[in-house]
Amino acid sequence: MVYSLLWLLVIIHFKSFAANAWVANSLLMTGPKAFLNYATSVQMGTRDGIEECKHQFAWERWNCPDSAVQLRGMRSATRETSFVHAISAAGVMYTLTRNCSLGDLGNCGCDVSKNGKMGGRGWLWGGCSDNVDFGERISKQYVDTQETGQDSRAAVNLHNNEAGRKAVKATMKRICRCHGMSESCSVKTCWTQLSDFRDVGLYLKEKHDRAQKLEMDKRRMRAANNADNRGAIADAFKDIAQTELIYLEDSPDYCMKNVTLGLHGTEGRECLQHGNGLTQWERRSCRRLCHDCGLRVEERRTEVASSCNCKFQWCCKVNCEDCSQVIVKHVCAKREGAPAQGFRKRHRAPKERQ
Ligand SMILES: *[C@@H]1O[C@H](CO)[C@@H](O)[C@H](O)[C@H]1NC(C)=O
Ligand SMILES: *[C@@H]1O[C@H](CO)[C@@H](O)[C@H](O)[C@H]1NC(C)=O
Repeated sequence: MVYSLLWLLVIIHFKSFAANAWVANSLLMTGPKAFLNYATSVQMGTRDGIEECKHQFAWERWNCPDSAVQLRGMRSATRETSFVHAISAAGVMYTLTRNCSLGDLGNCGCDVSKNGKMGGRGWLWGGCSDNVDFGERISKQYVDTQETGQDSRAAVNLHNNEAGRKAVKATMKRICRCHGMSESCSVKTCWTQLSDFRDVGLYLKEKHDRAQKLEMDKRRMRAANNADNRGAIADAFKDIAQTELIYLEDSPDYCMKNVTLGLHGTEGRECLQHGNGLTQWERRSCRRLCHDCGLRVEERRTEVASSCNCKFQWCCKVNCEDCSQVIVKHVCAKREGAPAQGFRKRHRAPKERQ
């Protein structure tokens, strides 16, 4: 299947540039050029999605896969993987949509289908509306074709991909411009525009916090019959809105390193202590990442050389002094003589976000 092949191309790109060049070349010779264009955007979108994930989870025990390769390696369906699926599907749709509006793709542009029509009281559609339908369609083709399974996990992943795309639509804004005598606004035209991707990230983070666990009918699932299985999956989904994130399995203990699960654990993670302008969530990061995981907080000082006290001398020189600046960081470290998990206060800290 050509789409799976292209996704493979995207994944290989993260792994090895050389291998990618080879696949790209063989595709250029056989496949339509537009597909290669999309593949770049898909790759960029996935990367942006993972970067946004890292931003949203910066001070949490779990803080996102390192790359798209790792993303595809995640074989469970937890609350966290639900977010990764949603934000990367959203990233792909977002990038494709923006590429389309900017005219990057050649064969696609703004959505002007409603232009000239009445939009609401006192305004007309006009201008360049972002073509989310295009972004949605293409991102589905690239991202959703990854889920080839018929099982409940594949169904959950597809649901969360869709929730991610819904988030892109839900966060869109209407922008208007006034016309008429000295901008009296007697005529107003409006178009819809993507929000900052940060807003999509924030929106999905809230969905993550309220994600629902999907309860499957286990007895029915065990009945090996495939059709029955699909029936059980459909039943489990019927009360869940497409905008909500769902998961199947409880999260593992993110304090602990677990190579099999690809988890780094929180040892070595940086946390924030008493700085100015920290939110309560950030100020509690050392407790959450270190103390509650049976680790201690270690202060690390590093000296960084920099120029300082620079003076401008007439004319035309700048003289600086060499200064050294001490940078203090706090990092989670093992307690001496204690196995990391020996001092656990709580298995899983309750949600403490404010
Ligand atoms: C799409 O946009 C991204 C980032 O905005 C850019 O890096 C990429 O080159 C664009 N794709 C094309 C085909 O121009
Ligand atoms: C890693 O996770 C797996 C699956 O949950 C578990 O069976 C295994 O015991 C864990 N390994 C460690 C070192 O905790």
